[in-house]
Amino acid sequence: MRPAEEKFKKPKTPEQPFVELRQGNVTCSVPLSRGTTLLDAALKQGCSVQFKCRKGTCGRCAVDIISGSAYLTERNEAEQKKLGTSPRRLACQAVLNG
Ligand code: FES
Repeated sequence: MRPAEEKFKKPKTPEQPFVELRQGNVTCSVPLSRGTTLLDAALKQGCSVQFKCRKGTCGRCAVDIISGSAYLTERNEAEQKKLGTSPRRLACQAVLNG
């Protein structure tokens, strides 16, 4: 005789939006934290994003956005000046707005 079959349901968790970024061979997913820079949110997440000035001038924190760019503020003047037409973002200047 077979034991009664038990059914387990996965707990429902709402999809948490995030921004996925890449810098060199480092890739990480950063959950949204409204009003926080992408750099601070990534560091809080334990992601080892390289940075230096935090002012948008050195370019060290430039990252590729793999997904979730809609959750970031528009490029500010510092990013436009430093990155030109590159699709990259400066993690110290891009702010999460989702
Ligand atoms: S840390 Fe220098 S531009 Fe972001």
